[in-house]
Amino acid sequence: MEMRQSSRPVNAPLANLEEWEDFVKERYPESLVGTNPNKKEEQFRDYENTARPSVREFYRLNHRHQTFEFGQEKRREFLDSHRREMSIWEALEFLNTLVDDSDPDTDLTQLDHLLQTAEQIRKDGHPRWFILTGLIHDIGKILCLFGEPQWAVVGDTFPVGCAYSGKIVFPRFFETNPDSENPKYQTRLGIYEENRGLDSVHMSWGHDEYLYQIVKDYLPTEALYMIRYHSFYPAHRENEYGYLMNEEDRRMMDWVRKFNPYDLYTKSHTKPNLKELRPFYDDLISEFLPATLKW
Ligand SMILES: [Fe+2]
Repeated sequence: MEMRQSSRPVNAPLANLEEWEDFVKERYPESLVGTNPNKKEEQFRDYENTARPSVREFYRLNHRHQTFEFGQEKRREFLDSHRREMSIWEALEFLNTLVDDSDPDTDLTQLDHLLQTAEQIRKDGHPRWFILTGLIHDIGKILCLFGEPQWAVVGDTFPVGCAYSGKIVFPRFFETNPDSENPKYQTRLGIYEENRGLDSVHMSWGHDEYLYQIVKDYLPTEALYMIRYHSFYPAHRENEYGYLMNEEDRRMMDWVRKFNPYDLYTKSHTKPNLKELRPFYDDLISEFLPATLKW
C-alpha cells in the first residue's frame, strides 16, 4: 500500500476516485445539511488545512490545468468522435474495471455504489427518472479508462471564462492557472452575459459534462441538471454564480440539491443483490434510453 502511494503517477495523486468524494463528504457532512451557511465558513478553511496531501495535490493539478481552452479541447476530443458503443450495463461493467487502489475498507464496486444510490432514491418514493439518474450519474468516470487524468474526470466543477468564486475549495491554486492572467476571463461575468443561463456557460471538464452530453436527448430536464451539475458544489452548496443563472437554472438547482444527499450519503457496506435488482433496472433503462449509446 505504501509502495503504491509513493509510486503514484504524477497525474494520479489520489489512491482512488473515492478519495475526492470522501473529502467532499468531510467538507459537507450530513449533519450540516440545511444549517446556516455562515457557520460553515470556519470549517471550510479547516478542511483545506487538514486535507490529505493526495487530495491537496489533486486540487492543485485541477485548478492549474482546467482552463477554458482545455475544456474546449476535451469537448472536441470526446464529443466529436466516439470510442465505443455500449449499453448502460456494458458501460457500468466497463466502469467496474476501474480498479485503482480500490476502497480499502470495502469490496464494493463502482456499480454497487451506484445501485445503492439508486435504491435509496427508489425507497424514498421518487419518480422513475430520478432512480435512473442515481444509477447512471457517475458513468462518465469511464473517462479515466480512456486515459484521462483524475483531475480531468472528478473534482468540484466551476465555470471557466469568468472570475473564480472565492468559495471554490483551495482558491489560491488558481493563481497558477493561465486563465488567471487573461483579463477577459477575470471579470465577474467574463465572456458571459448576466443571467443568460448556465447552458451558455462553459464548466470545467469532467465526468458530469461528459455524461450529460451523451444522454441529453433522452431524460427529463430535472435529471439532466442533476447529471450535469452534481459536482457544481460552488453553486448547489455555496450558492455562488447566481448572476450567471436564469429562472430555469434557479428552479432546477433545487433538484440538484435534492439529488446531492443521495450522491454523498447513501454509501453503505451492504452489497446490493444485482441478480434480484436486474429486471427492475432493465425495464427502467429501456423506458428512457436506447439500447446502446455512443461513448
Ligand atoms: Fe459524480
